[in-house]
Amino acid sequence: MATLLKIDVSPRGASSYSRQLGLTFLEGWKAAHPGSSVVERDLAQSPLPFLDLPWIAGAFTPPDQHTPEFAAALKPSNEVIAEVQAADHILITTPMYNFQIPAVLKAWIDHLVRVGITVNYGANGPEGQLHGKKVTVIVASAGAYPAGDPGAAYDHLTPYLKHILGFVGLTDVTFLAAAGVAGVQYGKISEEDWKKPFTEQAAELAKA
Ligand SMILES: Cc1cc2nc3c(=O)[nH]c(=O)nc-3n(C[C@H](O)[C@H](O)[C@H](O)COP(=O)(O)O)c2cc1C
Repeated sequence: MATLLKIDVSPRGASSYSRQLGLTFLEGWKAAHPGSSVVERDLAQSPLPFLDLPWIAGAFTPPDQHTPEFAAALKPSNEVIAEVQAADHILITTPMYNFQIPAVLKAWIDHLVRVGITVNYGANGPEGQLHGKKVTVIVASAGAYPAGDPGAAYDHLTPYLKHILGFVGLTDVTFLAAAGVAGVQYGKISEEDWKKPFTEQAAELAKA
């Protein structure tokens, strides 16, 4: 039985395009994986704390020497890691904010990357420990940053996510760039026409 971990980021609830496309993916994925289970983490509704001194001290102290403060600081990190370890497919739906991921998603990544658990340093450098999982990332953005276009250099979200997910071993990552929301906002294209190709892509990706 497969498990999908669905991570949502946008604070815009049902109006969020990344969430809407995520729901299309979810329906398709459930249809393609009967009897599967879905775990949802809503980073807008329940943001994770930022890393603090007890977290850092705890992460670099053997667990049998953890103080109650270290253990409390690491609890969200342990939960985030356990969810990813248990998942076969991870879906991240996110807006682009200021050419990057929103801070709540960065906080999730900071809890996920743990030396000795999700990444080990060996003779050949860092070795990610999360293997055999697919990741789908649905990104909504006002602008468009297609590969080969001079504007692509402004997209710091896609290369960063590719790098950091790969750093912990998540190398099978597919992006759906729901780009050009600005066209809807400025009345150049109807919401329906803008969304159609991305909805089709989300449904197609869900079959993988
Ligand atoms: C604070 C903020 C910063 C944004 N920064 C960017 C940006 O750097 N580049 C871009 O293309 N769109 C940017 N946008 C537009 C959003 O990515 C776009 O509205 C998207 O649809 C938001 O995702 P959602 O619909 O899932 O909430 C920004 C929007 C907000 C609210």
